[in-house]
Amino acid sequence: MSPAHPQPPQQPQGDPAATPASDGAPSFAVITGAQVQQVLTGREREVVDLVESVYRLHGAGETVNPPSYFLRFPDRPSSRIIALPASLGGGHRVDGLKWVSSFPDNIRSGLPRASAVLILNDPATGYPFACLEASVISAARTAASAALAAHRLGDAREGRGKPGRVVFVGTGLIARYIHTYLAATGWPFEEIGVHDLIAESAAGFTDYLRRSGTDAPVTVHEDAEQAIRAGDLVVFATVAGTPHVHDPKWFAHDPLVLHVSLRDLAPEILLGAANFVDDVEHCLKADTSPHLAEKLTGGRDFLTGTLEDVLSGRTGVPSDRPVIFSPFGLGVLDLAVGAHVHEAVTRAGELHVVDGFFNELSRHG
Ligand SMILES: NC(=O)c1ccc[n+]([C@@H]2O[C@H](COP(=O)([O-])OP(=O)(O)OC[C@H]3O[C@@H](n4cnc5c(N)ncnc54)[C@H](O)[C@@H]3O)[C@@H](O)[C@H]2O)c1
Repeated sequence: MSPAHPQPPQQPQGDPAATPASDGAPSFAVITGAQVQQVLTGREREVVDLVESVYRLHGAGETVNPPSYFLRFPDRPSSRIIALPASLGGGHRVDGLKWVSSFPDNIRSGLPRASAVLILNDPATGYPFACLEASVISAARTAASAALAAHRLGDAREGRGKPGRVVFVGTGLIARYIHTYLAATGWPFEEIGVHDLIAESAAGFTDYLRRSGTDAPVTVHEDAEQAIRAGDLVVFATVAGTPHVHDPKWFAHDPLVLHVSLRDLAPEILLGAANFVDDVEHCLKADTSPHLAEKLTGGRDFLTGTLEDVLSGRTGVPSDRPVIFSPFGLGVLDLAVGAHVHEAVTRAGELHVVDGFFNELSRHG
């Protein structure tokens, strides 16, 4: 990927359709997290290119991406499981569903917050043909989207370029993936700031940064204001359920903000900024900060455009105010990355097919 030079749109790679077994029955495979990581690790630029191509397909109306469905629990209010059904058009069609849990208390016992599976369905028959471990796919597509937005929105701001002072607010797994994707796509890190409510999270992330080989100096900030003021690229990857950053003055230096966790910023901050989303209908839901801004103002005038508007050159990016990217996260991105992994595992001859998964294959017995 060369973020500074727009690429022609690419189709997602691979032939995701199920390969029938020798008896003609549809086949079904299981792809483990280890296999997913083997395909994706070190291929960050390709994943960013793939994500860009899917945003372009989505912008061209060649996807179906209905609203995500949130399963919530009265007795466990901080937890949720989300269903993201989607259909990807273009040259390599595939349908499917990501089913992703968020249990923030998991980190107390050392388990990651999110876990997920991705089901791929054959668009010809509807038969599911693969189940993939999807926490890595989900983190990879989220980080690829964030890195793409950082490069493209940064480059489009006249006279500013890519900001080298980068701050991470909320330093869990998603922040780690975003750093990895920024680094792999050549981000010019000069200084890195780190802020988290939990000291061990900040320390663990700082340790990861050192192991990543970065030579940028790393500073741990005790409070959010100090952190935000120290960053020209500010990445929010917390698990905040309601806004905890309220003062627009903290953004007086007009940073580029990747608001990946969606609910950190009070609507007043968005109203003083240029706002970009991945999909308007998706993002203005579920009490995200853009949704709160819509409720506060009674309209959508505060939105500047989508990332795809910027990729296609339809919308410019201002330099004289903060720029905030709030991506809801589209199921079509998971599908495209999952289909790419399935294709790579198949090509390597390492697909674990579950024999006899579909067994009732004669309508009348
Ligand atoms: N938009 C998308 O497409 C997308 C996709 C995947 C994940 N996410 C979001 O990314 C976020 C991070 O996910 P994760 O897996 O890294 O979670 P995680 O639990 O591993 O890390 C979150 C960190 O944020 C910290 N934190 C919580 N509140 C904070 C606050 N007010 N200030 C500073 N730090 C705070 C926690 O202490 C924790 O260390 C989640 O909100 C998740 O929903 C978004």
